[in-house]
Amino acid sequence: MSTRTNSVKAASAPEHPHRIYEVMAAEHLRLDGSLDLMQSRKRNANVETYQIFRETLPRHIRIEERILLQMAQERNDGKPLALAAKLRLDHGELAAMTMLPPTPKALAAVRTVLKVHNPLEDGPGGALRAMRRTCGHRPTRVSG
Ligand SMILES: [Fe+2]
Ligand SMILES: [Fe+2]
Repeated sequence: MSTRTNSVKAASAPEHPHRIYEVMAAEHLRLDGSLDLMQSRKRNANVETYQIFRETLPRHIRIEERILLQMAQERNDGKPLALAAKLRLDHGELAAMTMLPPTPKALAAVRTVLKVHNPLEDGPGGALRAMRRTCGHRPTRVSG
């Protein structure tokens, strides 16, 4: 098989199309773990963990908004997923919350949003599963 054929195959049939969805679901657990740590009484851990958390959450949201939701919509004849508007609304709220100092009240508010938000993505019937159904098993179009 030639190199050109290999690169076309790689572009049209991802070897592990399901992995991005698993990575995103695993990151939900890591973010929950960070919240657990920040809400504990370990003051030194809170500052460092909050810095990682406030970098990770917006990146996670950007991947969902700019890649996964967009890809799902494109492959769904231009129609957004049913949950897309709700997820985007939550994302805006979470992004705003990461601008706040990590007070117990602010952390509790983030946890409250994520507790409802994450199951909408990785729970049964969640958006990540819908995205996987919509995107994960179809070959990507190759132009040219
Ligand atoms: Fe999300
Ligand atoms: Fe997420």
